[in-house]
Amino acid sequence: MIDRTTIDRIMDAADIVEVVQDFVSLKKRGVNYIGCCPFHNEKTPSFIVSPSKGIFKCFGCGKSGNAVGFVMEHEQMTYPEALKYIARKYSIEVVEKELSEEEQKQNDDRESMRILNEYAAKYFQNNLLNDPEGIAIGLAYFRERGFTDEAIKTFGLGYSLEKRDAFTETALKNGYKLDFMTKTGLTIVNEETKRRYDRFFGRVMFPVYSISGQVIGFGGRVLKTAEKTAKYVNSPESEIYNKSKTLYGLYQARTEIVRQKKCYLVEGYADVISLFMAGVRNVVASSGTSLTEDQIRIIHRLTDDITVLYDGDSAGIHASIRGIDMLLAQGLNVRVLLLPDGEDPDSFAKKNGSEKTIEYLNTHEEDFIRFKTRLSKQEADKDPLKRAAMITDIVKTISVIEDQIKQTVYLQECSKILEIDENTLYSELMKFRRKKITEGKLPTGYTQQQRPEPNPTPRQQTPKVSGNKELGFLSKEREIMRLLLLHGNKTIANPLDTNKEKPQMVKVAELMIGLMVKYNITELRNSINQQIFTELLNDVYNSNEISEKKFINNPDPAISSVAADVCSSSYELSSIWTKNGSVYYGEEARLPEIIIDVCNKYLIEVKKDKKRKLSAELKRQIETNTKQQSQLAMLEQEYANDTTNEQLAEEIAALKANYEATKALTMDSMKSIKDITDEITELSLKQ
Ligand code: CTP
Ligand code: MN
Repeated sequence: MIDRTTIDRIMDAADIVEVVQDFVSLKKRGVNYIGCCPFHNEKTPSFIVSPSKGIFKCFGCGKSGNAVGFVMEHEQMTYPEALKYIARKYSIEVVEKELSEEEQKQNDDRESMRILNEYAAKYFQNNLLNDPEGIAIGLAYFRERGFTDEAIKTFGLGYSLEKRDAFTETALKNGYKLDFMTKTGLTIVNEETKRRYDRFFGRVMFPVYSISGQVIGFGGRVLKTAEKTAKYVNSPESEIYNKSKTLYGLYQARTEIVRQKKCYLVEGYADVISLFMAGVRNVVASSGTSLTEDQIRIIHRLTDDITVLYDGDSAGIHASIRGIDMLLAQGLNVRVLLLPDGEDPDSFAKKNGSEKTIEYLNTHEEDFIRFKTRLSKQEADKDPLKRAAMITDIVKTISVIEDQIKQTVYLQECSKILEIDENTLYSELMKFRRKKITEGKLPTGYTQQQRPEPNPTPRQQTPKVSGNKELGFLSKEREIMRLLLLHGNKTIANPLDTNKEKPQMVKVAELMIGLMVKYNITELRNSINQQIFTELLNDVYNSNEISEKKFINNPDPAISSVAADVCSSSYELSSIWTKNGSVYYGEEARLPEIIIDVCNKYLIEVKKDKKRKLSAELKRQIETNTKQQSQLAMLEQEYANDTTNEQLAEEIAALKANYEATKALTMDSMKSIKDITDEITELSLKQ
């Protein structure tokens, strides 16, 4: 943990323009700087950096934040990593917070293991480049495979000597502890003889990096394919190396994945490196194992779009297709790319060179579901008995997609490709849906009613966005945040003071928060807004200054991003005003009315929401009441035929009581709805 004082020092030193300029070329424009956004592809710049506020904001893609947020986003670092990065840039010594002895030891262990791995990677690379054996065997091998110096450097490639304890002995001589050498798996100790051996010997070495660039493990490849040993030996799992959470090449590819908004997935080390050399730098490997959920989550943090590269042989395709449902279920857009027969990405890139490889990648990818559907159709055409199984299989894949609009689109497309009625596919899909619902795997919002009408005529798609009413809240919350952060400290005449001659003066924040509290609104919809609001509430009660800096430089990147976003909105405003050519009186002069207006609007929103909830409640009550009524009628009918049945009489009495109670409730609800409707009307009239 980095302590608060150090964080403050780093934040004070960080000059947003300097930090951003290391990655983006900026031009001065008035008091601000402008450039092309590094987070999405654009030709005309809409990325603004404000040195006075210490923030950046892209008006194209909406990303915003402070210097740390920028580094986190651009370099895909965690918060502490980004802080340390900026600290290094400004030569600030980072003091870490005291940890418990146990934590400290664990940290030390992990740190020692990383340092040792770092050393080992350097050692292996030195072998490769400077040792006669390394040059003659290792380097010659890489050269034969066409690996360039740049690739060798970027991926930290190396060579382990044939002598069985070359590394272990050298490392020990250099003061590294045997304990960490075994913990990282670099050294293996024979339990009986106590002799120490290197795990890797006589192999070319591929270091595996964490996303922040630390060496966490190794893969070593044999040189002579004739040998019976495994082609690759890999580091074992350890405190720092968790294979299911690691993707080979991610450190080198991360910024390019974000920039290109796309990630290529291949199988092997060599595939990553060859594509890299061909200029395709947004590529990672699952390293031979099947893809895990964690790996998918890591990719998903960087992009929604993933393209899986397949070797041309169909056995491989069928084996790996199964894993792809997992990608779809995580909401990724999955495409596949089939290489010509017998080629893997490595051999293809080598054979065809950069230009043709990129061209091929750009023109040959296909949406996964469409691809799978086509493939299955070909097979089912050959063997009609397989047709039913094929349909089930494809619909199952479509059913894992959570996004219902996407799902519908796929259903339509597959119905065309397979020449099967859409409704048939739909009812098949519902089987999987129901199964999942009973297994409790679906989000609760999903009901049958949401089912898109299986309409034979082409339907106009007006996707129902579930968060529509939320939007009303969120836009108003944003406005409240903006006014509070931008103008919170300004003093204005209290518009609520009845003494219009000499009104009392209040701070904007006091007035706004006072109004909200008066309206009984202390909970906002969006949790980040809520956090900011609560802090501001405290500030007002404790008569603290309202400081936008405090929020812009908040350690929580989500808060700092929201703060940066609303604080940069003044640029939006000014440009809108000048464009319209209308007279701009300036927001400040109109603050009192604006504040009352915004708080009022929010209150209306809250009341409308309450009304919606009451109406839903009323609907349920009426349904219950109707049901009770018909039940009652049935029982009374029965009783008429059997007037001596006392139990029946009791039941009827009980049901009647329930019926009356529900009836009373519906009356209450109707009254409440009427009241709230009146309130809303009254509030709206004030506008
Ligand atoms: N792999 C492994 N152990 C093996 C074989 C493979 O860990 N015995 C992993 C490696 O990460 C390898 C990936 O699976 O990169 C893909 O295997 P393969 O295609 O055989 O290796 P390539 O990287 O393509 O190696 P090369 O081209 O040098 O044969
Ligand atoms: Mn290969």
